Amino acid sequence: MTTTGERGESAYLLGHSPTELDRLVLQARLYDPITTQALRLAGLSSGMRVLDVGCGAGDVTFAAAAIVGPTGAVTGIDAAPAALELAHARAARRAAEPGREREGVISFREATLPDVTLDEPVDAVIGRLILGHLPDPVTALRRLSRLVRPGGLIAFQDFDNHPLRVVPATPLADAVLQTIAEALTVDGTDLGAGARLYSLFQEAGLPPSGISATTPMGGAEDATILPLVVQTYRALSMAGLPARNRAREAARRVGDPDSLLERMRSEIAETRAVVIMPTAVTVWTVWNGEREESQTAARQPT
Ligand SMILES: C[S@@+](CC[C@H](N)C(=O)[O-])C[C@H]1O[C@@H](n2cnc3c(N)ncnc32)[C@H](O)[C@@H]1O
Repeated sequence: MTTTGERGESAYLLGHSPTELDRLVLQARLYDPITTQALRLAGLSSGMRVLDVGCGAGDVTFAAAAIVGPTGAVTGIDAAPAALELAHARAARRAAEPGREREGVISFREATLPDVTLDEPVDAVIGRLILGHLPDPVTALRRLSRLVRPGGLIAFQDFDNHPLRVVPATPLADAVLQTIAEALTVDGTDLGAGARLYSLFQEAGLPPSGISATTPMGGAEDATILPLVVQTYRALSMAGLPARNRAREAARRVGDPDSLLERMRSEIAETRAVVIMPTAVTVWTVWNGEREESQTAARQPT
């Protein structure tokens, strides 16, 4: 879901409309527990200073702040002012909630990858759903690794969208998921970005220390999955994506987006079906301060 701008940086094709920002928050509700578990497994821990790249509305920044605790700090960076404005507002609201004093200090700033600089190295660079959006993720990863102290952590999560389906297959849900999958690829977005993270790290000269993968699933009664599917469909429709490729025909079968949630819910309840969502894949490395020059890295100096 990216386009490449004149200076070679990426722009997020879904934009930052209220619909898309609401979708990111809904998506975070489903995936945050998975992200938290993976970050802990990777070694994110108390007292760390963390950089969250492509922070969007701030959900991963918040999850990391809960892990690092009051002696740690997390800075979220994003290229989009609208996303940062929402992240700031949410952080201010959260700060007033009881118990937040046990979380790390949170800050946000505007920056466009891969051109990010810091006054001093951090203990960890993390990011969710960002590398798959970048035109040159290997260069970005290599440059980001320079922001981490030797012995520090580099951890990224991305989706492998291939599992996305309904079992048993149902006509309406099938049409919706087909539209989403096809619309997502309209600009060449890699549906298998999550599965490719492992080789991406190696190409960047960062041999992975670990990998984890989790696939959420849920039926008609799930409070988040169907609303998230419908909101994704809406955000893609607003960006005009179904009209721009083969998804147009499937979109016609989907019909009125306003009644879509209820229609899908009753179809899935009747057939006792389960929705299988994209797999969240996390890859991490504990950086030893030396970059292993892979063949690709040697061919493409930065
Ligand atoms: C799918 S959202 C993910 C947001 C957040 N990490 C999450 O998981 O909720 C991707 C975000 O990356 C940002 N982004 C895309 N390309 C970027 C770039 N080159 N530099 C900085 N941010 C970028 C977009 O503005 C968007 O907010």
